[in-house]
Amino acid sequence: EKILERGKDALGDLCGFLRNHVSYYDWVGFYFVEDGKLKLGPFVGEPTEHVEIPFGVGICGQAAEREKTFVVQDVSKETNYLSCSPKTKAEIVVPIFKDGRIIGELDIDSHSFSPFSEEDRRFLEKVCELVSKVV
Ligand code: SME
Repeated sequence: EKILERGKDALGDLCGFLRNHVSYYDWVGFYFVEDGKLKLGPFVGEPTEHVEIPFGVGICGQAAEREKTFVVQDVSKETNYLSCSPKTKAEIVVPIFKDGRIIGELDIDSHSFSPFSEEDRRFLEKVCELVSKVV
């Protein structure tokens, strides 16, 4: 029980670390697969109404269904999108795999247009690989 609680704190700390160290990461949070849906885990940034997301819905749900990283540099051009904040301009969603199955994802919203580079993608995929070892 205590270890689980500590694990949650650690993921919340990681969200804070990422947001504090990258100027264009404005909302950073985890969703975990539970009962066939995505459920919001630790996050930093404005509270969101999207605490449960079905597979296939929004950028998060599409990334979960397709099991691949989604980079949307301009969310106004994405039709299958769930808006959390009108300030959000771009979003990256990176799946977390364990034993070949998707168990969750890391979601980052940015208030800047087109902010995400290949380096962000590689870095965040690495972060998710590391997270998958400790959850
Ligand atoms: N924008 C996401 C929903 C989650 S919020 O960004 C925190 C989506 O379209 O799936």
